Amino acid sequence: MTAKNRSLGIITRCHGSHFMEKGYYKKLTQFGRRAGIRVFVFSPRDVDFETRTVIGFEYRNGAWRRGTFPLPSYIYDRCFISASYRHYKPYIEQLQNDPGITFLGHGLSGKWQVHQILSKSPVLARWLPDTQILSYRNLHATIKKTGAAIIKPMAGTHGVNVVRIVKAGNKYVITGRNRENKPFQRELKTTEGLHRFIAHFTAGRKFLVQPYLSLHTPDGVPYDVRILVQKNGHGEWQTTGMAVRVGDKKSITSNLHGGGKAVPLSTFLSSQFRPEVNAQIEEQLQQLVLELPPFLEEYHGRLVELGIDVGIDTAGNVWIIEVNSRPGRAVFAQINDPKARLNAVSQPLRYAHYLMNERVGGY
Ligand SMILES: Nc1ncnc2c1ncn2[C@@H]1O[C@H](COP(=O)(O)OP(=O)(O)O)[C@@H](O)[C@H]1O
Ligand SMILES: [Mg+2]
Repeated sequence: MTAKNRSLGIITRCHGSHFMEKGYYKKLTQFGRRAGIRVFVFSPRDVDFETRTVIGFEYRNGAWRRGTFPLPSYIYDRCFISASYRHYKPYIEQLQNDPGITFLGHGLSGKWQVHQILSKSPVLARWLPDTQILSYRNLHATIKKTGAAIIKPMAGTHGVNVVRIVKAGNKYVITGRNRENKPFQRELKTTEGLHRFIAHFTAGRKFLVQPYLSLHTPDGVPYDVRILVQKNGHGEWQTTGMAVRVGDKKSITSNLHGGGKAVPLSTFLSSQFRPEVNAQIEEQLQQLVLELPPFLEEYHGRLVELGIDVGIDTAGNVWIIEVNSRPGRAVFAQINDPKARLNAVSQPLRYAHYLMNERVGGY
């Protein structure tokens, strides 16, 4: 085994020495050191494939230090999809195609891809909202069928540009969050006006349309269940935690970035539903979390962890809203669950360790 085999590179977007999640990566570095794994952070754009080195950052003696490192054998992909993702994508692909490098997990490429995979599972399909690519025709069909629709960007995050469209008489009422993630409301008096608004709002980007689901408490507070599932040190899927994100009453989304807070799942559910309904919800969540990760992995390729956003409507129905391969950990730092909190920031390192040991002797 060479020293190179014991290195884990975290890829992220770096601007000079600035990158996000420094606290998390510091922890991974410290867990790594105990396991004999060298952890460092770099931007996929700072790789020199000729010399097989990267310029990156390593947490050492109390500070992040810049340095040149040999290409790591293992990579943890934390390059969040954003407007600048296309500048990173070709470099990430080059790393993925490198025979000397193993990704702990391959990033999912968007909501539509995930929906299409999950809808192949008869078990999971029952929890999927009816989802289509946005067109005026699909939008009007959805509104006609259910009274209200949600449109959202295929490659969106944090609830940005998620919009509800309700038909009231001949008018359309639009409620949602704009590009700056600020809540807004508009009324459009004609179908042409609605179409003009949508053309302007979507600005050529691909959107999805779904029925609007009442994913809120009886008094109108939006919430969703955030589940974090991760591979553990035996290479098996393990549920790290389940928590509820409660949004703002004024808002239609429950994302923390939109100004929400996190609370423990069972406390929250028992305050909302009768015990029988509650038990059915919890049972479905357990089944969902067992079924989804291996199913998605079978079609997509290796995954290291998933953030599954589940919505629960006012009748207690469970809905898969979003599956994220680069999940945040903020909710588990906010609820008082020390085990979930520790696992959330250490499982990826344990999984890397498992892969490294498994490879000794080669296959
Ligand atoms: N079909 C829907 N009906 C009602 N609310 C929804 C629906 N889809 C999404 N939302 C709300 O919008 C939020 C953001 O949607 P999501 O699909 O997770 O996109 P993002 O990637 O922006 O987080 C969800 O957490 C949920 O609160
Ligand atoms: Mg989401």
